[in-house]
Amino acid sequence: MHRLFVGIRPPADIRDRLIDTMEAVEDARWQGEDQLHITLRFIGEVDAPCANDLAARLARIDMPAFSLALQGVGHFERKGVPRAIWAGLANSPELRRLRGKVERACQESGIEPETRRFHPHITVARLGRSSGGIAWWTGANSHLSSDPFDVDAFVLFESELTPNGSIYLAVARYALA
Ligand code: 2AM
Repeated sequence: MHRLFVGIRPPADIRDRLIDTMEAVEDARWQGEDQLHITLRFIGEVDAPCANDLAARLARIDMPAFSLALQGVGHFERKGVPRAIWAGLANSPELRRLRGKVERACQESGIEPETRRFHPHITVARLGRSSGGIAWWTGANSHLSSDPFDVDAFVLFESELTPNGSIYLAVARYALA
């Protein structure tokens, strides 16, 4: 079985910009540079035939390259406790369109439809239960922004869970024309 997701890797200068925010949150597991990504679609565990079928369908996605920009920050919580902090992205119809095409490819491969709302973001840290609070971090980064950056490809990732966090391996890269 393969634990998969589809995402976009931001370029090095954007990753640097995100790394610059990584301070002053207690008990934060800051994401490594190589872990930073925008998730287009979390797939979860699938068998090899399904993964191969999906990879072939993703390769047929035909869409022009587009640009994205960082905009603001936010967090996800569980039972009222913040569990992850992230950088947001300026609204992008192209990103939603690509996400729609990826979703269709997944469903055609027999993967259950995604029912959760799409919140485009780049997770910068996962938080432990004893995390001291994110108010300072959120305030300090509320105006986070960047110049537009090119999205000229998306990636099928395999996620390997380890005691030290997840390792994301790019298994296929699909260019946007
Ligand atoms: P994230 O972007 O908020 O960090 C690989 O696990 C990626 O898929 C993670 O970056 C994660 O979210 C995203 N993802 C979405 N739904 C998930 C789920 N149910 N379980 C694990 N990861 C999920």
